[in-house]
Amino acid sequence: MRVLGVESSCDDTAAAVLADGTVLSSVVSSQDAIHQQYGGVVPELASRSHMRSIIPVIERALATAGVTLDDIDAVAATCGPGLVGSLLVGLSAAKAIAFARALPFIGVNHLEGHLLSVRLDGEVPFPYVALLVSGGHTSLYYAEDFGRYRQLGMTRDDAAGEAYDKVARTMGLGFPGGRVIDELARQGNRTAIRFPRARLKARRGAASSADAALEFSFSGLKTAVWQYVRDHAIDSDQARADVAASFQEAAVDMLLDNSFVAVQRAACNRLVIAGGVSANSRLRERAHAAGADLGVSVHIPPMRYCTDNAAMIALAAEHRLRRGESDPLSINAAADLEL
Ligand code: KG4
Ligand code: ZN
Repeated sequence: MRVLGVESSCDDTAAAVLADGTVLSSVVSSQDAIHQQYGGVVPELASRSHMRSIIPVIERALATAGVTLDDIDAVAATCGPGLVGSLLVGLSAAKAIAFARALPFIGVNHLEGHLLSVRLDGEVPFPYVALLVSGGHTSLYYAEDFGRYRQLGMTRDDAAGEAYDKVARTMGLGFPGGRVIDELARQGNRTAIRFPRARLKARRGAASSADAALEFSFSGLKTAVWQYVRDHAIDSDQARADVAASFQEAAVDMLLDNSFVAVQRAACNRLVIAGGVSANSRLRERAHAAGADLGVSVHIPPMRYCTDNAAMIALAAEHRLRRGESDPLSINAAADLEL
């Protein structure tokens, strides 16, 4: 079965061809150059740029895979969550192809794509605890099987990737900030500044702390970095690298603390980390080290499948197609589609 996948939920235009779980092509066209000057994604510019790129990106994905539309058995596209103007471009293009070719169509939840992305690189048995950490989301899930996910907790405020992007902006490092901070932090001293780590108490209503949702909070850390930068002269490369490394260490501490508590509670000994921030070198290094210490097997997708891509969308669709499912072409984009 060959599936054409399309993804346009935020600021990457992506298309991929998957043949029975194997990636034949995965093309991603980034809009970073467009949004850089604004320090964040401008929704109107994003959808216009998707309009220009969507057909060339789909054509490139087919050509790279060495196939034509005649060889495609089904079409899939992200239908949410995301920016509605962005979602509509990829979704409409994919639905049009499905309609013209009379092919089955699947609308995919972007978050399910991230949760399954690790499987593009090999088998990962269910069940697993998954930390989904990106520019828009920071949540923990218990993934029992395909299509069966239970949320264990999420962020109360900013997503971790958003905190990376805002800290980068505070430090004048450009957008998107995650990769820049990751690189800068390599030259820095991680213990130079002790930034606060939010350790959230059990919410009222939970029967005991063991039942409490595992929540994250990144806005206090973001503000602490902002105050530090305001009050100190950050005028050398070393000073900048120290702030980046100290911020990153605090963010990674918070992400991994809750993740390993979730694994322990779920008693499943398997942790998957996915989403744009899972490309972070320090998060990867520390997750693998902690996993080795605690006897937990840690799975993180290769870099190219951490950030937004269409291969993960085609993969999520493939499992539904195998069960004989498809979606009507009346399916619409939903900005806050839940998993
Ligand atoms: O999954 P993604 O491509 O898009 C969303 O669905 O949000 O994630 C993008 C986010 C951005 O906030 C970006 O700064 C962050 O992932 N990111 C990183 C790294 N690479 C990308 N954050 C930390 N370290 C990285 N190496
Ligand atoms: Zn994403």
